[in-house]
Amino acid sequence: MSKNAIVPGSFDPLTAGHFDVIRRAAAIFDRVTAAILVNSEKSGLFSADERFAIVNAAIEELKKEGITNVDAKVFAGLTVDAARESDAAFIVKGVRDATDFDYEFGMAEITRRFDPEVETVLIPSRPDLMHVSSTYVREILKYGKGDERAFAPGTATVIRSILNSRK
Ligand code: PNS
Repeated sequence: MSKNAIVPGSFDPLTAGHFDVIRRAAAIFDRVTAAILVNSEKSGLFSADERFAIVNAAIEELKKEGITNVDAKVFAGLTVDAARESDAAFIVKGVRDATDFDYEFGMAEITRRFDPEVETVLIPSRPDLMHVSSTYVREILKYGKGDERAFAPGTATVIRSILNSRK
């Protein structure tokens, strides 16, 4: 049986940190789906379609490296349902620090209660990406200052063209 995983997130937008976790998950699992979880009650900077386009731009970069087992899908609702719909028995999350760990530890227990057959796998963040978050990327976009390495490879141009098309 193939081992499939989802990497769920809001991805508003995808960051270099998310990208690293997805790439590392792709080396472990047969297929990895970046599951873009959209909460209809929360409006983000980017729409579901825009987040999807941004994630796909990063997936193209992975393909250039020969990594071809990653795809992306948009989901509404629960992460555990996104895993089931993706035929994935693993939910992969990146953890940057103890706060992330506490949160993900609780989420893993909720997931286990929803579906004991879905396993949560936590991947520790690369130290140089520990400060990176979607909030940080949104601030770079807003104030025009910050470390461009926070953008996931291949996404800065797509992100900026989406924002420019709104002006
Ligand atoms: O990128 P984020 O914001 O850390 O991603 C969080 C996300 C989307 C993975 C999380 O909020 C989530 O799983 N939301 C879906 C709802 C859900 O499954 N909740 C858990 C049970 S109450």
